[in-house]
Amino acid sequence: KTPIAVLISGRGSNMRALVDACDDATYPARVCLVLSNDPAAPGLAWAAEQGLPTAVIDHRAFSGRPAFEAALNARLVRAGAEWICLAGFMRLLTATFVNTWTGRLLNIHPSLLPAYKGLHTHARALAAGEREHGCSVHFVVPDMDAGPLIGQARVPVLPDDTPDSLAERVLGQEHGLYPACLAAALYGYPTLEAARAAGAAHTG
Ligand code: GAR
Repeated sequence: KTPIAVLISGRGSNMRALVDACDDATYPARVCLVLSNDPAAPGLAWAAEQGLPTAVIDHRAFSGRPAFEAALNARLVRAGAEWICLAGFMRLLTATFVNTWTGRLLNIHPSLLPAYKGLHTHARALAAGEREHGCSVHFVVPDMDAGPLIGQARVPVLPDDTPDSLAERVLGQEHGLYPACLAAALYGYPTLEAARAAGAAHTG
């Protein structure tokens, strides 16, 4: 099993989905660290209750991004992390950090990228009158929400949707998509589609 670190800033429901997937003895990853930049992140408390290794690297304690990222990187290396999953981690990472982990650094984003990079994706999709919305898992590159896509999941936008109801429908898809894309990437497939076509485990 490949040791992965999951980076969060809040609720951590995608982190929980990854932890659940890793509980399967045949899943190709194990969680070696759950790390938050915010000591109050609810997901951090949950992870600690499960007995998972946790860490806080509070960005507010550092003079700038390079110092924050140096501490972050040191903690990840110390935990033995080989891959990183950003799961609602709300800090932008510099090219220096990203380049250190290229090809082993994944993110989940709540839109059908390249549409709606950035924040407030559900409200923006609704305001634009989209009939379809969803989520994406991609390799991280220095540009925000821009790396190679591994997989996407789609949901319909319904007439009565609010940003919250749409977010909830998308989140339900995120929890299946992220573990499937991580497995696909760990097995060396460029995309979830390619992994599924090959019948790879944990990608269905
Ligand atoms: C998720 O919807 C994730 O896609 C999104 O934040 C939420 C975190 O929820 N990520 C971003 O917006 C990244 N820019 P969670 O903490 O319950 O996983």
